[in-house]
Amino acid sequence: MPVAIITGASKGLGRALASALAQRGWDLVLDARTPEALHTTAEALSAYGGGVQALPGDVTDAGHRVALVSAAWDLGGVDLVVSNASALGAEPLVRLEALPLEGLRRALEVNVVAALGLVQEALPLLRESAAGAVIAVSSDAAAEAYETWGGYGASKAALDQLAAVLGAEEPGVRVWAVDPGDMGTDLYAAAVPDDGDPRPEPASVVPAFLRLLDERPASGRYSAPSLLEVR
Ligand SMILES: NC(=O)c1ccc[n+]([C@@H]2O[C@H](COP(=O)([O-])OP(=O)(O)OC[C@H]3O[C@@H](n4cnc5c(N)ncnc54)[C@H](OP(=O)(O)O)[C@@H]3O)[C@@H](O)[C@H]2O)c1
Repeated sequence: MPVAIITGASKGLGRALASALAQRGWDLVLDARTPEALHTTAEALSAYGGGVQALPGDVTDAGHRVALVSAAWDLGGVDLVVSNASALGAEPLVRLEALPLEGLRRALEVNVVAALGLVQEALPLLRESAAGAVIAVSSDAAAEAYETWGGYGASKAALDQLAAVLGAEEPGVRVWAVDPGDMGTDLYAAAVPDDGDPRPEPASVVPAFLRLLDERPASGRYSAPSLLEVR
């Protein structure tokens, strides 16, 4: 069975994607910092019959990233790495004039440095896979100038560029940066607590990710809404 490492998998998009892969028979290595929520998710997903390893930890911890890849190796290898865990840099978001530089550093460390570190760790196994792939969960804030989203958006733009270059450097591995679109999650609520408008459930965008895995288009940047359009 194929094996995926998914960061930030205890809730939100990470959990929804992990659930869909578990239902398709994938074996999973899941990460998040809060052990209780992660173990609850892992227990629920193991009911689908596949191997599910839950490793609580912070993606910025290099030793934790080694442990994630090692757990995947124990399950048979690495076919997919999903860098989904993310930091906003400020909660709620603030204009650039007030963005704490420590917050920006944290967003870059979580969203960019850790994502590359995990891929570096997994690359030898991804190259061995018959269908190796990396998904970098991006945002439209990487490409649009939304007020208050500057620090987070800059980190996602950097992630997009790492993904683009990795795709050029690794022709045997598919590398997709994916903008999932707005979703009603804890991350969105922390970013914009006053925005009470309903947002789509994370599960509603998972078919976009599954389409990438099924059709394996060229490495590049994709948006969930366009992937979900009927052909
Ligand atoms: N929600 C939106 O509208 C939206 C829009 C565009 C893009 N995105 C992107 O979609 C992805 C998923 O976000 P979401 O909205 O689903 O967020 P979410 O529901 O808040 O889930 C975030 C997950 O990441 C984990 N996490 C956060 N920091 C971590 C760290 N340093 N190390 C390990 N795990 C960490 C969280 O668990 P712990 O807190 O326990 O660690 C949780 O499992 C992110 O990349 C986000 O930037 C979201």
